[in-house]
Amino acid sequence: MEHQVGPIDTVEQTLILPLFEGVDKAPNRSLTGLGRAGQSQVRSAIASDDFDGKSGKMISLWNDDCKVVLVGMGKSSDMKSNSTRDAGANALAALNKSHGKALTVRFTSGWKVSMMTAFAEGMMLRDYKFDKYLSKDDDDDDDDTPYTVTFQSSNRHLDNLTAGCARVSSMATGVHIARDLGNEPANKLTPMEYASRARAFAKGKGNLSVTVLEWDELLENKMGGLINVGKGSEHPPCMVIWELNAKAKDGPCPIVVGKGITFDTGGISLKPGAGMDEMKFDMHGSATVFGLMVALHGVGHKGHMMAISCMAENSPSSTAYRPGDVIPTYSGKTVEVLNTDAEGRLVLADGLWKAGEYNPEYIIDLATLTGACVIALGHEASGLWSNDDDLLENLRKAAADSGELAWPMPLLPAFEKQMTGSKIADVKNLGDRYGGSNSAAAFLKQFVPKNGDGDDAKQYPWAHLDIAGTAWGTSTNAMVAHGATGVHVRTLVRLINGA
Ligand code: BES
Ligand code: MN
Ligand code: ZN
Repeated sequence: MEHQVGPIDTVEQTLILPLFEGVDKAPNRSLTGLGRAGQSQVRSAIASDDFDGKSGKMISLWNDDCKVVLVGMGKSSDMKSNSTRDAGANALAALNKSHGKALTVRFTSGWKVSMMTAFAEGMMLRDYKFDKYLSKDDDDDDDDTPYTVTFQSSNRHLDNLTAGCARVSSMATGVHIARDLGNEPANKLTPMEYASRARAFAKGKGNLSVTVLEWDELLENKMGGLINVGKGSEHPPCMVIWELNAKAKDGPCPIVVGKGITFDTGGISLKPGAGMDEMKFDMHGSATVFGLMVALHGVGHKGHMMAISCMAENSPSSTAYRPGDVIPTYSGKTVEVLNTDAEGRLVLADGLWKAGEYNPEYIIDLATLTGACVIALGHEASGLWSNDDDLLENLRKAAADSGELAWPMPLLPAFEKQMTGSKIADVKNLGDRYGGSNSAAAFLKQFVPKNGDGDDAKQYPWAHLDIAGTAWGTSTNAMVAHGATGVHVRTLVRLINGA
């Protein structure tokens, strides 16, 4: 979508007019630029019972020179940014070919800039297709030209609306790139392909750098998590380290770590066949990291921050790691592998430990880590674990404000005891049947680095987001039709860059 912001004047092919419940005549200036026929159609629709402005109501009006879509917003006093974002997304989704690609969205009396921006954000987020592998017929009349949208408001709001739309547009770009990576099949997106796309994005951007630790460097660094998970595949693993605004370094900085399993067969502990195709999404933690870097760069973030993507493909072969293996990790701790399908925690172990070398203010990891998290929370919320109450609350709030719920889950000592109960290694990678997402979080906690050396040194503030249920497959998320969601790109922009 291309967009611009301007005063209320002319109307393009289709006018989108979001209206509040209880409005019984056309608001001041809402009909500017419409022909006579259009004006009278809108007036009578608003006066009739057919359109009451209730949230979710939408009606399309047609005449020769223009089309109008009335969008019900509910009561203006009830307006929240989450429901307004949904309304924008639903309005975009309801458009069809006959509405054309040139849209005018007109905000009239009662609209605050923050709500206008939320509506625009919903439209932008929903405007996404992953159709690069669909052959196009020559006579295909599917119109692939992007939407061009003019957001109109009264003059006094124009400066703030311009800034707000630019910001949400940068965020939507990041979200869409995260979705592209998530949707990309595993025969196209290998760990090193992710690395080269990261390098390509950073190229020429003076304040963004990407460093890739390839196979030999993983070996030199004894990154046993990445090495062992990745060694069964002909597509080698790697660690991608992102740094934004290194020159602004001034004390500790946020660090985000993403699980990037480009395909998770389960390895020697092979997964059942049904639904295994979905394991192409098992790199969504790293997709969110990529989208976050794009979005933070796009909004002009000035602070120093870093990210680490832990990339590998989990495949069975004669060179794959096995159940029963004891493997080293970058932290120095050994792990008894009881199930090669619990691989995400192993690559994250190396990523979390690496984060400790960069003076973190806090560390947040994102991972499609456990099926158990989907059982617990469905597709409605990511699981959220943290060793720090302030970080947990800040992250929870940033997620809620973004309409990307993150639900607090318990980090219990009993699960830590379970995961450190191996007889032959420091940690084991499997708990018992119950509370599987909690034992996974407890495993990760064993690899959160400490600030200082002595016995009483404290772990850095750390939070873990299990996005197994929210990274794809949500039917209630208005921002996305199907496939990868790009979840938590916006949450983390909000947390790191501010509201
Ligand atoms: N990537 C999966 C988790 C997953 C499963 C995400 C289904 C989304 C949907 C992860 O690597 C995995 O296989 N986890 C195992 C852990 C178990 C072996 C302890 C699981 O959840 O079954
Ligand atoms: Mn797995
Ligand atoms: Zn996995």
